[in-house]
Amino acid sequence: MEEMIRAENLGYQYGSAGDMRHTALRGINLSIRPGEFVAIIGHNGSGKSTLAKHFNALLVPTSGTVTVKGMKTSDPRNLWRIRQTVGMVFQNPDNQIVATTVEEDVAFGPENLGVPPAEIRRRVREALECVDMVEYVRHAPHLLSGGQKQRVAIAGVVAMRPECIVLDEPTAMLDPSGRQEVMRTITRLNRDEGITVVLITHFMNEAVQADRVIVMESGRIVLDGHPRKVFSEVETLRALRLDVPQVTELAYELNKEGAGLPDGILTVEEFADAIAGASHESRAMEGAEDGRAHPMSIVREGADPARDRRAKNSEGSDRAGCRGRAATAWCGGG
Ligand SMILES: Nc1ncnc2c1ncn2[C@@H]1O[C@H](COP(=O)(O)OP(=O)(O)O)[C@@H](O)[C@H]1O
Ligand SMILES: [Mg+2]
Repeated sequence: MEEMIRAENLGYQYGSAGDMRHTALRGINLSIRPGEFVAIIGHNGSGKSTLAKHFNALLVPTSGTVTVKGMKTSDPRNLWRIRQTVGMVFQNPDNQIVATTVEEDVAFGPENLGVPPAEIRRRVREALECVDMVEYVRHAPHLLSGGQKQRVAIAGVVAMRPECIVLDEPTAMLDPSGRQEVMRTITRLNRDEGITVVLITHFMNEAVQADRVIVMESGRIVLDGHPRKVFSEVETLRALRLDVPQVTELAYELNKEGAGLPDGILTVEEFADAIAGASHESRAMEGAEDGRAHPMSIVREGADPARDRRAKNSEGSDRAGCRGRAATAWCGGG
């Protein structure tokens, strides 16, 4: 399958020759496949935004190459198609609002692409369905909540029918419920619409929702893999001054005390299942040893993995609204 994005030996320096040059990216090698959901984490200044801007040719490499579906970003003739293939969403929703109603705002991108009016109306409606904002179509965007504004900004990108969306800390300025709304939207676009997602975030509970986590430090990639693998590198992440998800850290600390839980636990549900397993084993051993309860059995009282699963499933059913149109809209191209 053709790659969505490929970086080969990518290096980037800010500043022109003669000025103070600052190296922001060094020797980046990376391949992102269609349909992947990739999270990029890393300390401030590690180069995440600089890398993201290379994915739709807002920046072009000072050494090495970046290609989008095989198109070199350094060739100006590819710019139009690259920008249509990869859409960008930024941190501050206020800076991304361009119109006085939600409808006009979402229509702005397709209008600039020269899409005919009837098709624009259809795309605006579909995009707003995808982000669950149809009922706000006539509202003024500046009066919406932060999470709603960011969903409108995402709809504006979706209306241009990109195959890939790069989001640079889209939840950083939102309250917890706004963050959840936006994450639900992002996972829906990836799972139900098949859009490739690159999410830059400093919230670890967001990164664990991806298929793959890339960790950056000083302009380089230092870890790249499944969230379970990356977040089991607790000491490496700590040395990079990065958090691990709270529940992963708790399991790690318990394991230091000999709890025997699996590595890389990412969710409360997995933690509860692991604890239930550990507690079950310990009960089987009771009597054989000194009869004292295993420390895990205390924790287990409050945990009900089945309940967590039920909650998760019912959340899943909200997503159905977006599913009907699914593949047809994007697989055929715009
Ligand atoms: N416009 C710029 N001019 C000069 N240096 C910059 C510019 N933007 C970012 N940098 C520097 O490049 C490095 C990477 O920045 P950035 O990609 O914004 O990191 P992150 O998004 O991970 O915080 C930092 O050292 C930053 O100071
Ligand atoms: Mg940044």
